[in-house]
Amino acid sequence: MIKKSLNIDYLEYTSINDLEGDWLDLIHEADNNLENAYAPYSNFKVSAVCKMANGHIVKGVNQENGAYPSGLCAERVAVFAAKSQFPDQKVDKIVITTADTTTVPVSPCGACRQVLIEYEMTQNQPIELVMKSGDSKVWQFKSVKDILPFAFNGEFLKEKG
Ligand code: THU
Repeated sequence: MIKKSLNIDYLEYTSINDLEGDWLDLIHEADNNLENAYAPYSNFKVSAVCKMANGHIVKGVNQENGAYPSGLCAERVAVFAAKSQFPDQKVDKIVITTADTTTVPVSPCGACRQVLIEYEMTQNQPIELVMKSGDSKVWQFKSVKDILPFAFNGEFLKEKG
């Protein structure tokens, strides 16, 4: 038996102004779209913005439904729309924000992580993530792998038989 361990590096910012490059613009794009979230049941509004390799920005917000499981998280709304409009473009970055004053940044659910890592694996390039809470604390990850170690890989299916 071998004991193994994992170490995950990520950055925490207490001010969004300390982020470099276009992250701040992307956060503003996400925050400005929060009002479009359709979250009448949870009242928990989430916004996600994908930056594609061609520079296009694709936004998504959570969509709820009276039949609860029929709704979809902001991250999947955004990335599915992005890959529908630009199927051949890599997803460079995703920003996730919430209107809620959570003390920790809003972190994608397991299903959204699995969806994001599918694109990360097939595009052979990490998707960088930034997550922000309502009170502006920010976490930055270099790769979806960092928030979903041991992910299921669609390639496993091809190794059968
Ligand atoms: N939600 C998201 O949109 N993204 C997340 O990362 C977590 C949760 C949504 C789903 C639902 O509409 C509401 O937040 C409460 O779970």
